[in-house]
Parts: sequence; structure tokens; C-alpha cells
Amino acid sequence: MSALIDGKALARSVSEQTAETVRGLTERLGQAPGLAVVLVGNDPASEVYVGRKVRECRKVGMRSTEHRLPAATDEADLLALIEDLNSDPTVHGILVQLPLPDHIDAGLVLDAITPDKDVDGFHPVNVGRLSTGTGGLVPCTPLGVMMLLDTVISDYRGLDAVVIGKSNIVGKPVAMLLLEREATVTVTHIETRGLSEIVRKADIVVAAAGAPGLVKGFWVKEGAVIIDVGITRVALPDGTTGLMGDVAFDEVQHARAVTPVPGGVGPMTIACLLSNTAKAAALSLG
Ligand code: GUN
Repeated sequence: MSALIDGKALARSVSEQTAETVRGLTERLGQAPGLAVVLVGNDPASEVYVGRKVRECRKVGMRSTEHRLPAATDEADLLALIEDLNSDPTVHGILVQLPLPDHIDAGLVLDAITPDKDVDGFHPVNVGRLSTGTGGLVPCTPLGVMMLLDTVISDYRGLDAVVIGKSNIVGKPVAMLLLEREATVTVTHIETRGLSEIVRKADIVVAAAGAPGLVKGFWVKEGAVIIDVGITRVALPDGTTGLMGDVAFDEVQHARAVTPVPGGVGPMTIACLLSNTAKAAALSLG
């Protein structure tokens, strides 16, 4: 029977640590660390995520400000808001919720955020720091993936790791973090040939394809550690819907450990956003 890696419990403990760090920072800064969350338009999923991020911030004693702009907002107006937030000393972290409306160039907006306030770790400077192993702010979901792996793996050197999915938000940064630990990393994607054979050799499987049930039980090596980043709402035979990961969860009892969906990676993402915001606040002290 594979062990369950409990993301909810780990997220709670990371948030408790962050709350402790925030208490110290609040004294040193003379104010609580602050996160600015920017939401353009009213994508329902984004509204839920943003609400959750703001709520969790307050729980660990940080301030958070929400900037809700209409869907028709000009790119120039959004860039002006980012400039204001960049120069506001009460704002330590800036997060622009994605996706942005089509008429706005998301790359331009993310580039405009000061790298030391870029709590999402999406700015090219932070991407560069990650790929050269020189610190910086690391994207939240990949950071959470590594913390989950760290609960069962202490030495990554020489382990075979496969990352399924090459997104800038998850796949590529996870690959960089695993490389940094000296795992042998294979990054796969929609055009990869023979994916099942590649997965079959892996000691670590990070599935971030957004393809429910993609990774079958017989693909997985005995004793592998599986992190399932996928979360897709699917129709169930009884006519209701449910959330499903990229891994056929019921078929991987022979794995060493696996994250559930939900309750695995999801809770870690927000916990890591909070810890990144505390880190950004510490950076502001020099
Ligand atoms: N939209 C979906 N995931 C994310 C994320 O991690 N950060 C931001 N800013 N937007 C998102």
C-alpha cells in the first residue's frame, strides 16, 4: 500500500512557520508584511483563488490589498498600477492573477513587477535566478511540490525523475528544482514519444499535464514517489462531477508514496505564496 502525502497537514505546518516569521518581520518592519493581489475582469475561478489568497494572508498576520479592475482595463492603466505598487513601501509582494484578458500582454505586465516583489516567481529575473541556482523567489506550486517530495526523499542525487508537462508555471521550474538537487530529470510533454516507458523508469513522477487519469498504474515503477499536480473537474458515472488528478490514483498502490487530489499539491500553493511574501518582506530589509 502506498503512503499518502498529506498536503493539507504540510500546508498547515508551513503556514504556522510563516505566521511565526511574520511576527518577527512585523516588529522589524514596523508594520505587517503586505501582499497586493491584482485581479482584472471577473473570471469565476480567479475570483475564488484571489479570495482564498487574501483570506489566508490575513490568517498568518499579513496585510493584503485587493485591486479589482474591470475586464476592459487598458494595459497602460494596469502597468501604471504595477508601478505604484512597485514603489509603495507598504507592499512587499505583488501578485497579478492569471489569466489576463486577451487585449493585455501578460508577459509585459509580469515583466513590470519588481523582481524582489514578484511572489509568483514569474519574472524573467527570477526565472534566470532559478535556472542558475542563485536564489530569488521560486514559483509557488513548484516550491510546494518540492516540500511534498522532501517529506519522503532526503537525497535526490542520481534519482530518475520525470516531469510531465512543460509549463512555465509548473513543469519547467519543477525540473530546475529537481536538477538543482542532482536528480536526473526528463521533461516530457504532449509531443513526447513513449511516455509510458519513460515513466516506468522513474523514481519520482511529477504529473502536471492537466490530463485526468493520464498516468496508469502499470506505467509506475514499484516504490516510485508520485506528485499529482493535475486537478480537473470530470463527470462521474452517477451524473455528478468530481475532481480528478493526472494519475489513476486507484492503480498506484505499488508506489512508495502519492499525493491525493484534492488535498495534495493544492493547499501547498497558497502556503508557499504566503512564505514567498514573508521572504519578499525580509528582502526589503536588505
Ligand atoms: N493562475 C493560475 N495559477 C496561478 C498562479 O500560480 N499565479 C497567478 N498569478 N495566477 C495564476
